[in-house]
Amino acid sequence: MEDFEFVSPTQFVFGHGVEKQVGAKLAERGAKRVLLHFGGQSAVASGLIDRIKAALDDAGIEQVELGGVRPNPEITLVREGIALCKEHDIDWVLAVGGGSVIDSAKAIAVGAHYDGDVWDFFETKRQTDDVLPIAVVLTIPAAGSEASKNMVVSNDELGLKSGYPNNAQRPKLAFMNPELTFTLPPYQTAAGLTDMFCHLLERFFDDVGAVPVTDNLNLSLMRTVRAEAPCVLAETDNYDARANVMWAGMLCHQGLAGVGRHEDWATHGLEHELSALDPDITHGAGLAVMFPAWMEYVYSENPARFAFYGREVFGLASTGSAEDDALSAIDETRSFFASLGMPTTLCELGIEEDDIERMIPTLKENKGEPFGSFKKLTMDDAREIYRLAL
Ligand code: NZQ
Ligand code: ZN
Repeated sequence: MEDFEFVSPTQFVFGHGVEKQVGAKLAERGAKRVLLHFGGQSAVASGLIDRIKAALDDAGIEQVELGGVRPNPEITLVREGIALCKEHDIDWVLAVGGGSVIDSAKAIAVGAHYDGDVWDFFETKRQTDDVLPIAVVLTIPAAGSEASKNMVVSNDELGLKSGYPNNAQRPKLAFMNPELTFTLPPYQTAAGLTDMFCHLLERFFDDVGAVPVTDNLNLSLMRTVRAEAPCVLAETDNYDARANVMWAGMLCHQGLAGVGRHEDWATHGLEHELSALDPDITHGAGLAVMFPAWMEYVYSENPARFAFYGREVFGLASTGSAEDDALSAIDETRSFFASLGMPTTLCELGIEEDDIERMIPTLKENKGEPFGSFKKLTMDDAREIYRLAL
């Protein structure tokens, strides 16, 4: 087991109607003026934003609103949010939405007390503890940003989508009501399931040997996501299925499913370039295409690890050939994503061979070279993986 540090400061408030407690819980923590941050339209249309405003009013907490976060959030709105925080002396950022809103809120919280441009943090990865506290009302289980130490934000001017990790930006409070996810379109539900499953794959396949305490937690989460997926897609208002998926989405990415391992994260790097190139590409859909391609390209480094995964997660019988078993496990992975309604080729996402060369320079800037851990990848390897995915 590799050495590690792990911190998870998030208080979770989970279950029916928990968003009604937002005002009281924030007041308990001393919040006076919050920036209420949300997305394009779903949280307004459902009446959620009005309910939250009422809960904040009841607790005597002032609010400044900033909506309009797009999927694959962009730095321009973040800068607007930072200006509002400075102008109104904001003391908490409250994100209502999914990974995109939460990541935009994290970027605002990191930049709120900084005199320079917030993009500096994405470029230098410089750490700071001077981050406004963040609360979250989660509306889509997927990215796991409600407890994770990461954020990913696009800079359209530079053509980049870049990450910034910092434990200080882990949310302090996360309100998780599975009922809020009943309105999700099937494609977003499926993309979310894919993303959380891939957060486990990134942690499971690396260059460290077995770490049973971590691996068994990880594998049980993979089995849970796989088992609950058809239930939430068939019955959109199945509370228990939605609840299991919502909690799983957090557990898949808050960190425990990877401690003691190096983790890989090459495929997330490959995917982020797709959604940097075209912000209409949903992160989970890009992963559904890229992960099986990455697996095919790298499995021969350690076929036994893939065979083990196939047995544990898909119940595949051993044939005696680790190579054959590994290939079956990869087939099962692709079929699982396809069964959710996810794409299987880059062409379905509108990406063509000519686009590959456009993504390589920014991939190199974001990930460096070599990147990944299960197999150390060069930019030539990345080109091959993109071609396999076409
Ligand atoms: O904008 P609105 O109208 O709210 O619509 C959203 C959006 O179009 C909609 N939606 C959300 N909740 C809904 C709903 N529609 C109906 N009912 C609801 N209850 O869903 C769409 C997608 O939302 P988004 O927040 O983009 O989804 P997700 O949570 O998948 O976040 C994706 C972003 O997170 C990043 C991704 O790269 C991407 O930018 N990630 C962040 C990570 C992190 N911070 O740790 C890790 C991940 O690997 C990921 O990279
Ligand atoms: Zn992800």
